[in-house]
Amino acid sequence: MNSQHIAAVSEAGDARTDDASTEPASEPSRTITLSVNGRRQTCQVSERKHLADFLRQDLALTGTHVGCEHGVCGACTVWVDGVTARSCLMLAVQTDGSDVRTVESLALDGGGLSVLQQAFQDHHGLQCGFCTPGILMSLTELLRDDPEPDEATVRLTLSGHLCRCTGYQNIVAAALDAAAKLRAAR
Ligand code: FES
Ligand code: FES
Repeated sequence: MNSQHIAAVSEAGDARTDDASTEPASEPSRTITLSVNGRRQTCQVSERKHLADFLRQDLALTGTHVGCEHGVCGACTVWVDGVTARSCLMLAVQTDGSDVRTVESLALDGGGLSVLQQAFQDHHGLQCGFCTPGILMSLTELLRDDPEPDEATVRLTLSGHLCRCTGYQNIVAAALDAAAKLRAAR
Protein backbone atom coordinates (compact mmCIF):
# COMPACT_ATOMS: atom_id res chain seq x y z
CA MET A 1 0.00 0.00 0.00
CA ASN A 2 1.61 3.28 -1.08
CA SER A 3 1.17 6.69 0.50
CA GLN A 4 -1.35 7.75 -2.16
CA HIS A 5 -3.48 4.69 -1.34
CA ILE A 6 -3.24 5.41 2.38
CA ALA A 7 -4.43 8.99 1.78
CA ALA A 8 -7.38 7.75 -0.27
CA VAL A 9 -8.42 5.27 2.44
CA SER A 10 -8.04 7.98 5.06
CA GLU A 11 -10.27 10.35 3.10
CA ALA A 12 -12.89 7.62 2.65
CA GLY A 13 -12.79 7.00 6.39
CA ASP A 14 -13.27 10.69 7.08
CA ALA A 15 -16.22 10.77 4.73
CA ARG A 16 -17.89 7.84 6.54
CA THR A 17 -17.32 9.55 9.87
CA ASP A 18 -19.00 12.71 8.60
CA ASP A 19 -22.00 10.73 7.31
CA ALA A 20 -22.46 8.95 10.64
CA SER A 21 -22.52 12.19 12.57
CA THR A 22 -25.21 13.74 10.39
CA GLU A 23 -28.32 14.42 12.50
CA PRO A 24 -31.47 12.70 11.22
CA ALA A 25 -33.99 15.03 9.70
CA SER A 26 -36.43 16.18 12.38
CA GLU A 27 -39.81 14.48 12.31
CA PRO A 28 -42.87 16.39 11.17
CA SER A 29 -44.77 17.64 14.19
CA ARG A 30 -47.94 19.54 14.91
CA THR A 31 -49.34 21.68 17.66
CA ILE A 32 -52.40 20.24 19.34
CA THR A 33 -54.62 21.54 22.11
CA LEU A 34 -56.48 19.04 24.23
CA SER A 35 -57.72 18.42 27.73
CA VAL A 36 -55.98 15.64 29.64
CA ASN A 37 -57.53 14.64 32.94
CA GLY A 38 -59.32 17.97 33.07
CA ARG A 39 -56.25 20.06 32.33
CA ARG A 40 -56.22 21.91 29.03
CA GLN A 41 -52.84 22.01 27.36
CA THR A 42 -51.17 22.85 24.09
CA CYS A 43 -48.34 20.62 22.96
CA GLN A 44 -46.04 20.13 20.02
CA VAL A 45 -46.17 16.45 19.09
CA SER A 46 -44.65 14.27 16.42
CA GLU A 47 -47.24 13.38 13.77
CA ARG A 48 -46.28 9.71 13.98
CA LYS A 49 -46.44 9.36 17.77
CA HIS A 50 -49.34 7.31 19.08
CA LEU A 51 -51.46 8.52 21.94
CA ALA A 52 -50.06 6.05 24.47
CA ASP A 53 -46.47 7.19 23.87
CA PHE A 54 -47.57 10.81 23.95
CA LEU A 55 -49.23 10.33 27.34
CA ARG A 56 -46.31 8.39 28.78
CA GLN A 57 -43.33 10.17 27.23
CA ASP A 58 -44.50 13.73 26.72
CA LEU A 59 -46.92 14.13 29.63
CA ALA A 60 -45.30 11.67 32.10
CA LEU A 61 -48.66 9.93 32.61
CA THR A 62 -47.15 6.46 32.93
CA GLY A 63 -50.27 4.87 34.38
CA THR A 64 -51.30 4.02 30.84
CA HIS A 65 -49.43 0.85 29.92
CA VAL A 66 -48.26 -0.36 26.54
CA GLY A 67 -48.32 -4.07 25.83
CA CYS A 68 -49.00 -5.36 22.35
CA GLU A 69 -49.31 -2.08 20.43
CA HIS A 70 -51.73 -3.92 18.15
CA GLY A 71 -55.05 -3.23 19.84
CA VAL A 72 -55.25 -6.70 21.36
CA CYS A 73 -54.24 -6.60 25.03
CA GLY A 74 -56.20 -3.57 26.24
CA ALA A 75 -53.45 -2.35 28.57
CA CYS A 76 -53.36 1.05 26.88
CA THR A 77 -57.09 1.76 27.22
CA VAL A 78 -57.99 5.38 28.00
CA TRP A 79 -61.07 7.50 27.44
CA VAL A 80 -61.31 9.87 24.51
CA ASP A 81 -64.35 12.13 24.64
CA GLY A 82 -66.02 9.93 27.20
CA VAL A 83 -65.59 6.53 25.59
CA THR A 84 -62.85 3.95 25.84
CA ALA A 85 -60.18 3.87 23.16
CA ARG A 86 -57.00 1.94 22.53
CA SER A 87 -54.35 4.61 22.85
CA CYS A 88 -51.86 2.48 20.91
CA LEU A 89 -54.12 2.64 17.86
CA MET A 90 -54.62 6.41 17.81
CA LEU A 91 -52.18 9.07 16.83
CA ALA A 92 -51.79 11.79 19.40
CA VAL A 93 -52.60 14.40 16.75
CA GLN A 94 -56.04 12.79 16.35
CA THR A 95 -56.92 13.97 19.85
CA ASP A 96 -56.57 17.64 18.96
CA GLY A 97 -59.58 19.30 20.60
CA SER A 98 -60.52 16.18 22.57
CA ASP A 99 -61.02 15.36 26.22
CA VAL A 100 -58.66 12.54 27.22
CA ARG A 101 -58.87 10.71 30.52
CA THR A 102 -56.29 8.28 31.83
CA VAL A 103 -56.20 6.01 34.84
CA GLU A 104 -54.65 8.89 36.80
CA SER A 105 -58.03 10.62 36.59
CA LEU A 106 -59.81 7.92 38.58
CA ALA A 107 -58.43 8.84 41.99
CA LEU A 108 -60.69 10.95 44.15
CA ASP A 109 -59.94 14.65 44.55
CA GLY A 110 -58.10 14.03 47.81
CA GLY A 111 -56.02 11.31 46.19
CA GLY A 112 -58.03 8.39 47.59
CA LEU A 113 -59.02 5.34 45.54
CA SER A 114 -62.23 5.31 43.55
CA VAL A 115 -64.88 2.81 44.59
CA LEU A 116 -63.76 0.47 41.79
CA GLN A 117 -60.07 0.83 42.64
CA GLN A 118 -60.84 0.09 46.31
CA ALA A 119 -62.80 -2.99 45.27
CA PHE A 120 -59.79 -4.20 43.27
CA GLN A 121 -57.69 -3.84 46.38
CA ASP A 122 -60.27 -5.56 48.58
CA HIS A 123 -60.74 -8.51 46.22
CA HIS A 124 -57.11 -8.87 45.11
CA GLY A 125 -58.16 -8.01 41.59
CA LEU A 126 -54.58 -7.52 40.47
CA GLN A 127 -51.23 -9.18 40.80
CA CYS A 128 -48.50 -7.64 38.63
CA GLY A 129 -50.90 -4.81 37.75
CA PHE A 130 -49.81 -4.45 34.14
CA CYS A 131 -53.30 -4.96 32.77
CA THR A 132 -55.00 -3.06 35.58
CA PRO A 133 -55.08 0.55 34.28
CA GLY A 134 -56.79 -0.47 31.06
CA ILE A 135 -59.24 -2.74 32.85
CA LEU A 136 -60.10 0.02 35.32
CA MET A 137 -60.89 2.39 32.46
CA SER A 138 -63.16 -0.13 30.75
CA LEU A 139 -64.94 -1.17 33.93
CA THR A 140 -65.40 2.46 35.00
CA GLU A 141 -67.12 3.07 31.68
CA LEU A 142 -69.28 -0.02 32.19
CA LEU A 143 -70.35 1.02 35.68
CA ARG A 144 -71.15 4.51 34.43
CA ASP A 145 -73.35 3.19 31.62
CA ASP A 146 -74.82 0.13 33.34
CA PRO A 147 -75.18 0.50 37.11
CA GLU A 148 -76.39 -3.08 37.51
CA PRO A 149 -74.24 -5.29 35.28
CA ASP A 150 -74.50 -9.03 35.66
CA GLU A 151 -71.48 -11.31 35.68
CA ALA A 152 -71.79 -12.07 31.97
CA THR A 153 -71.71 -8.37 31.13
CA VAL A 154 -68.63 -7.83 33.26
CA ARG A 155 -66.92 -10.77 31.58
CA LEU A 156 -67.88 -9.43 28.17
CA THR A 157 -66.18 -6.14 29.05
CA LEU A 158 -63.12 -8.01 30.28
CA SER A 159 -62.95 -9.95 27.02
CA GLY A 160 -61.23 -6.89 25.57
CA HIS A 161 -58.36 -7.23 28.04
CA LEU A 162 -55.63 -9.77 28.53
CA CYS A 163 -54.53 -10.55 32.08
CA ARG A 164 -51.78 -13.12 32.51
CA CYS A 165 -51.95 -13.29 36.30
CA THR A 166 -55.34 -13.34 37.93
CA GLY A 167 -57.58 -15.76 36.05
CA TYR A 168 -60.09 -12.85 36.01
CA GLN A 169 -62.26 -14.24 38.84
CA ASN A 170 -61.20 -11.63 41.39
CA ILE A 171 -61.56 -8.86 38.82
CA VAL A 172 -65.16 -9.94 38.20
CA ALA A 173 -65.81 -10.04 41.95
CA ALA A 174 -64.33 -6.55 42.34
CA ALA A 175 -66.45 -5.13 39.52
CA LEU A 176 -69.68 -6.61 40.89
CA ASP A 177 -68.85 -5.41 44.41
CA ALA A 178 -68.08 -1.90 43.13
CA ALA A 179 -71.35 -1.85 41.20
CA ALA A 180 -73.28 -2.79 44.36
CA LYS A 181 -71.49 -0.15 46.43
CA LEU A 182 -72.10 2.55 43.83
CA ARG A 183 -75.80 1.65 43.70
CA ALA A 184 -76.03 1.77 47.49
CA ALA A 185 -74.43 5.21 47.51
CA ARG A 186 -77.03 6.66 45.15
S1 FES B 1 -50.98 -1.88 23.90
FE1 FES B 1 -52.82 -1.15 23.04
S2 FES B 1 -54.11 -2.87 22.95
FE2 FES B 1 -52.21 -3.66 23.66
S1 FES C 1 -52.49 -8.57 37.00
FE1 FES C 1 -50.74 -9.18 35.84
S2 FES C 1 -51.44 -9.07 33.80
FE2 FES C 1 -53.22 -8.72 34.97
